[in-house]
Amino acid sequence: MASNTRKGRIPYKTTGMGEYVDEIYSLGGFFGDWAHLYRRHNLAHPLRWSDDRLMYSGLDPAGLAATDATDPRGTPLRLLEGDGVAVLLSQRAAAMPFAEKNVDAHQIRFYHRGRFRLETELGPLETKPGDFVVIPRGLIYRETPLAPEGNVVYVFETEAPIQLAETLWDSVGYASLLVDYSEMEIPEPAAGEDPAAAGDAEHELRIRYDGGWHSMTYGFDPCRDVIGWVGDAVIFKMNVWNVPTTGTSHGHLTPPSGAVLWGEDRAFFFNALSVPPAPRVPPPDGSFGAPSHLNDYDELWLNHASQTAPQTEGHLWLLPRTLPHPGLKRAAGPPSDAGPIRTMKINFDTKAALSWTEEARAALFADPLTAKYTSFFGVPLEAAPENVRRRAGHDGARS
Ligand SMILES: [Fe+2]
Repeated sequence: MASNTRKGRIPYKTTGMGEYVDEIYSLGGFFGDWAHLYRRHNLAHPLRWSDDRLMYSGLDPAGLAATDATDPRGTPLRLLEGDGVAVLLSQRAAAMPFAEKNVDAHQIRFYHRGRFRLETELGPLETKPGDFVVIPRGLIYRETPLAPEGNVVYVFETEAPIQLAETLWDSVGYASLLVDYSEMEIPEPAAGEDPAAAGDAEHELRIRYDGGWHSMTYGFDPCRDVIGWVGDAVIFKMNVWNVPTTGTSHGHLTPPSGAVLWGEDRAFFFNALSVPPAPRVPPPDGSFGAPSHLNDYDELWLNHASQTAPQTEGHLWLLPRTLPHPGLKRAAGPPSDAGPIRTMKINFDTKAALSWTEEARAALFADPLTAKYTSFFGVPLEAAPENVRRRAGHDGARS
């Protein structure tokens, strides 16, 4: 639909900022119809709510323990579940004593902390923090941490096949300007020319099938058996720091502009968002940061790296489709000469209605409204709006 409707008073440009809260209402996960509203109050700041599912919520994984942290045969901890989507936390300290196959779901394994050797049916990969590996359903892999301490892997499981988001940029051409997919690393078969590579010992394959764990035994190692393959890059590794974050001279771009991967039928999009270029246009026409906004997808956010608030790294947030996210629009400052800012957020927006599991719910921040600023945005409470500071019992004085 053409975006040509204007009603009431438009106090400043949609990209700018001024005395009103501006909020984007959008459909279809930011891809559909939208309206930019200028309002007096922020709908993201309710006084109270009848059910926590209506509210955004976040957690620090430091308080959680997956069984694979202490037991090599353990499993990742399921944090969020929804129709065709699950998000899991793995803290694996020791090598998998089996190979593994997920029949139910495709995976994006996001390596937040730790280094791993990831053997796959098609060959091995080495991973470091910021890497993500796409493993389609049915392909076999075996994960071995290179050190036991501090490992954190977030696993995004999806029923929808995972695709490169380059098709999003078809209309502007030159997709490599945005994400250079030729930077992906594709495994080389591990068996090579050694006929004994797969051995003749028994190897267990742990299988995720129909929601349960099962196993199958082979008389060889399925991760050292393939000598060659041709075809599509069905399994690959990329790194979030190689994903450029786009910007405009005036202000904000929607999250899908940072999409690296997306699901068939737009079931989800997976974004890597570092700090965008500082817009050069001052208020009232320009601004920096997202306005308050609402879309009809559930939004999941992970603070992978935060230069200014390292205590928030690893924090995971669910922003449900029921209410706007408050936004943190501010005046664009002059370009900094402090060098690159090492801040990276991972964003997974999905059609699925996600719910925290019981284990995850126990770790949620007590007051999501204040934590939204201190954890999600990683700013001191002094930077939150006055009503939020008051709620936290803060005197509101800037220090
Ligand atoms: Fe959002």
